[in-house]
Amino acid sequence: MARVAYVNGRYLMRDMAAVSIEDRGYQFADGVYEVIWVQQGRPVDLGRHLDRLDDSLQSLGISRPMSHAALKVVVGEVIRRNLLRNGHVYIQSTRGVSRRDHLIPEGTLPSLVVMASRESQRDAHIQEQGVAVITIPDIRWKRCDIKSIALLPNIIGKQKASQGNAFDAWQVNGHDIITEGTTTNAWIIGAKGEVITHPANHSILSGITRQVVMELAMEEGLSVYERPFTVAEARRAKEAFITSTTNYVVPVVSIDGHKVGAGRPGPVTKSLLKRYLAHMARDGE
Ligand code: PDD
Repeated sequence: MARVAYVNGRYLMRDMAAVSIEDRGYQFADGVYEVIWVQQGRPVDLGRHLDRLDDSLQSLGISRPMSHAALKVVVGEVIRRNLLRNGHVYIQSTRGVSRRDHLIPEGTLPSLVVMASRESQRDAHIQEQGVAVITIPDIRWKRCDIKSIALLPNIIGKQKASQGNAFDAWQVNGHDIITEGTTTNAWIIGAKGEVITHPANHSILSGITRQVVMELAMEEGLSVYERPFTVAEARRAKEAFITSTTNYVVPVVSIDGHKVGAGRPGPVTKSLLKRYLAHMARDGE
């Protein structure tokens, strides 16, 4: 297990690492986070993750805990001190410590925690066999673009998926549109081989993996559409898949028990996974 965590200026043994009970993250989920994959000791797409962290902080009016250059040093130190080869780094920044009051306090110092988690490379089995997803109502707020630590609907959805022997739950809004998974972005391949994913607006998190996979799909000469799609369209799709930092590209072979396409990972998904794995091997700062 990774043993050292950075907490507000200090590197501490994980068992001893703690934040104040008056941290607004603890009391109000008044904070944001990032999860960054580490491949062979190198953080993948670190720059993009730090840019998104800034966007989340800015949307909530929380000041940056430190510059990107300094944060890159901390991330590097956490990787080094934990001798991390493969796994992920978790960054959490909150509005800081203040007496409990719903009103936003002025002048608090943002809290910053950076920790690491050792993980083996993703189980090739799920990439080869594909996974099942279920659909659930999207009961989240209207700013899902902010990577907020308030994740109750997501954890309840993920739990429902697990209870239904599914890998994830795709969230469906009041118009029967699939927005995204609980920890992943959702994609389908249409009849002409076109790649379709929900637009990056306030209804979804603009996944870093999503951004990279869109670029890789375009490089491959595929037509990419950022547009909403319904549950019915997803069921009729040739292929479907999900993307996230910790799962890369995972084929979806059934939705609510209905087979997608042939019920096996399809060629477009497999090719995008291959390209994404190559991207991960290349990237790193
Ligand atoms: N989850 N949508 C949601 C709701 C997510 O929580 C995530 C990431 C994604 C994919 O984003 P990215 O490609 O940047 O990982 C989409 C992370 C991994 C988590 O909460 O652990």
